[in-house]
Order: sequence, then structure tokens, then C-alpha cells
Amino acid sequence: MRGIVKVFPGVRALDGVDLEVRAGEVHCLLGQNGAGKSTLIKVLAGAHEPDEGEIVWQGEELRLTTPLAAMKHGIATIYQELDLVDGLSVAENIYLGHELAAGGFSRRGDTQREAAALLDRLGHREISPRREVGTLSAAGKQIVSMARALSHDVKLIVMDEPSAVLDQEEVARLFKVIRDLTGEGVAVVYISHRLEEIRQIGDRVTVLKDGRTVATGLSARDTPTRELTRRMTGRDIEYVFPERVSPDGDGAVVLGVRDLAASGVFSRVDFDVRAGEIVGLAGLVGSGRSEILETVYGARKATTGSVSVNGKRLRNGSVRAAVGAGIGLCPEERKSQGLLLDESVYRNVSLATLGRFARGGFLDRRGERKAAQEHVRALDVRPGDVDRAVRTLSGGNQQKVVLARWLLRDCRVLLLDEPTRGVDVGARSEIYALIRRLAADGVAVVLVSSEVPEVLGLADRVLVLREGLVVHSGPAHEIDEHRVLDLVMEGSAV
Ligand SMILES: Nc1ncnc2c1ncn2[C@@H]1O[C@H](COP(=O)(O)OP(=O)(O)OP(=O)(O)O)[C@@H](O)[C@H]1O
Ligand SMILES: [Mg+2]
Repeated sequence: MRGIVKVFPGVRALDGVDLEVRAGEVHCLLGQNGAGKSTLIKVLAGAHEPDEGEIVWQGEELRLTTPLAAMKHGIATIYQELDLVDGLSVAENIYLGHELAAGGFSRRGDTQREAAALLDRLGHREISPRREVGTLSAAGKQIVSMARALSHDVKLIVMDEPSAVLDQEEVARLFKVIRDLTGEGVAVVYISHRLEEIRQIGDRVTVLKDGRTVATGLSARDTPTRELTRRMTGRDIEYVFPERVSPDGDGAVVLGVRDLAASGVFSRVDFDVRAGEIVGLAGLVGSGRSEILETVYGARKATTGSVSVNGKRLRNGSVRAAVGAGIGLCPEERKSQGLLLDESVYRNVSLATLGRFARGGFLDRRGERKAAQEHVRALDVRPGDVDRAVRTLSGGNQQKVVLARWLLRDCRVLLLDEPTRGVDVGARSEIYALIRRLAADGVAVVLVSSEVPEVLGLADRVLVLREGLVVHSGPAHEIDEHRVLDLVMEGSAV
């Protein structure tokens, strides 16, 4: 790709980007939230037409007018926001579009057999081709998108933050697939905000900043982290976690979770969170982490056990009771759970706190806007214009908007599920500091993250879960990443 320019109303998203990808390599695309990564790969996928610049594919200039045209040339893309059809089966999604090519015929048995073979190749035999896509987890959907890409004769496969919805074990499986593909000469463009992944899987790196290529052809293995973050952000980032305030917590117990269980999902979970304390839950996807948060929040009914706030027991399975007691949940799948994409940033931020801005039947719009503005600034949402529609923000910036909403709310107990997913290195440290500040103000925080270093770095106390059971509980500073992974993996078939 040479000199690619793409302009949206008010934003020059790409301002002359160059990218050169070789057969058989894993080419990593790095850049802060809003740098232009997704826009660039949408141009490559035929989803956006560039205003300037050219794409040269195997020596010839290529004009892509539709995503199908890109597919036909062997360019497949797995988008950050997955584009599957929920009502259709796994097999139907994989072969969507193929049917057209085959003259409208759909040979059910064949497509199901072929879909099963593709899923097997991806190491996910457990996903049935017959299953309705809407019932899969975000990770499952990701796998189906991959299978769809492989169902074409693919020469270049672009992955936009695939690991954002995967846990460590699933990332390991994905990397095996990537190695198999590159071994066959397929080129991979890989986008991620996790630098340790770039080291593991990448060959060369291109860095985008403000819609421009600022570095290219860097070695993924040997370029120091400092240099990568400096190229991305233009400054030196001390990627550190805030200091823990009270390691052994002398605040009063705010959240009490006693022998909580949801049959078939998790059992006998028992922990307290004191005012000012951050408790982290670590475990694989499917270990019950998110379900525990949902149960504490009342969105899921407990089969036994209890949840109490300030010593007062909450009604089982009632979100209303939980919210009334001051519990807030920032959910894992934020897209589907509450962003109003066509509304402005500030409306989205203040959505959960409208009560605070009600003045005798009217909304105090100025107060609402000001509060939203402060949070948008604190989280470094870009662009910082709070009147923009959320839809026009990059993936990581949308993430920050939802997070801002929950941080703006006054909660006694804040349940955070994957708070920094898709967020760049610069903004992460801001978010960590903000969470720590909330805790220091007396909020009891429960944190779920598939990134073990994040749990260990931010939490005061850690619970490690395996298949719905708490297998370890103790101060975060007494356990390291290897031990957590051992605990998490023990007995699993990896
Ligand atoms: N449809 C659109 N309309 C207007 N502006 C857009 C649109 N899509 C993207 N932008 C803007 O283009 C810029 C680049 O966005 P892009 O999604 O490519 O960033 P990104 O590098 O993928 O970021 P992230 O890491 O957060 O996913 C941002 O300023 C974004 O707000
Ligand atoms: Mg993006």
C-alpha cells in the first residue's frame, strides 16, 4: 500500500500510509487508539475506498470496490467488530457468499462437513457447525470468522485485535494456526495492543501515528519496548501500575460474597472486598469469572449463597436491588451492552447518571456535559470532542467511553470486566490510576481480566479460578504470573 489517504468528515484518518507485506510473514501493525489501523485494513479489505494512494498486489495495481473483490484476490479480514449473522448457523456463516458463487446452491451436508474440518484445523472441534452463531461467546465468534477466512483460498489474512476477546490458552491456539498458515506462505497482518504478543508471533512491525507511517520494517523480536512505545506515542511511557495503598486492607467490608454458586457455572465462591480494596479474579475464559460478576450484579440467579453490601443481604437475582445498594457493573461485551452508537460521546457517558443532572424535570445539560468532558479528558478519549457520535470513534476509544460512564457513576462496589480490552499502552496507565483513585475514595473494586499481569499489578488480592472453583486466594504480591498460569492450567488438556 502506498501513500494511502482516507478522509472522514472532520478527520484525516489516513494521511499517506505506506505498508509492505511479504508472503509468509507476520507483519504487526502498531499504533495508539485512533492511529488509523482499522481504517487502513478496511481499505485493504475493499470496505473503504481510499481518497488517494494505491494498492499493489503481487506486482499489479489493485482497485478494490467491494469486500467480495478482496476475498476473490485472496485477501481475508477478521474485523475488530465481528460481522457475523447471529440468526444463522456456524456453517452458514462460514459459507456466506460462497453460495452465491456456486449459483445459489447450498449443499447442506457438504458445507457442514467442510465447516467441521475448518474448525478442526483451528483446534476448535468443540464448536458444532450446526450451532447458532448468536449463542457463541465473543471468542467463539472470532473462531468462526477465522474459519470463514480460511474457507477462501487465502493469501493474506488480516486480523484486527483478534486476541482482545481470547484468553491466554486460546491465544496460544491462535498462534499455532498463524504459524501453520505462514508456513504455507500465507501473509498475516496482525494488530494488537499487547506488545508481548508482537514479540511472540511477529516478524516485522509497522507503526502508525496520527494516520501516518512513522516506522516500518522494525524487527518484532529485537526492537526494545521503549522504542516501540515511543514511536507510537511520541513520548516515553512508564508503563507502571499505581502503588497499592493498603496491602492488608483495614477498611470496612463493603461487599460480602458468601458461598455463592450458580449450578453448572461456578461453585462455592467466597470473598470479601473492603472499602479501598481491589480484588482481582484470574482464570481462563469459561472459568466462571464473568458469571460471578453477573451473579453479584443480580443479572444471573444464584443457586445457593448470598451477596451483601455493607452487611445487608441483597435479593437474589435482582439487578434493581444490586444497583440500589450501589453496585455497578462494567460488562465484558460493551458493544452489545449499552453503547448508543449514533448518540454523542457525552450522552453515552452520562447515561448511567442522568438522575444526578435532573433539575426539577429538566436535565442540566451543561452539568452533564461538563462531567462527561472531565472523564473524557481523564481517559484521553480521542478525538476529545464530546459532541461526536460514538460510532465515528476508533474501537479503543469507544471502549474508553463506556468505561468513563461507569467511572462517573457513584458506586460503592464497582465490578469491572476486562476494563482495558483494546486500549493502548498510553491510556492503560491512566485507567489504572483512575481505578486506584476510585478505590482510594472508598469504592470496593472487583476486577476481571484475562491479562494476568494486569490482575497482579492492579489488584490487592487475587482469586484464581479454574472451572468454576476458586483454587487459590491471597495477596497479589505473594504470587507471580507463572504460578497463576500453573494453577489455571492444571488438569486442563493443553
Ligand atoms: N466512519 C468514520 N467516520 C468518521 N471518523 C472515523 C470513522 N471511522 C474512523 N474514524 C476516525 O478515524 C481515525 C482512525 O480510526 P481507526 O478506527 O482506524 O483507529 P485504530 O488505529 O483502529 O484505533 P483502535 O486501536 O482504537 O482500534 C479516528 O480518529 C476515528 O475517530
Ligand atoms: Mg481499530
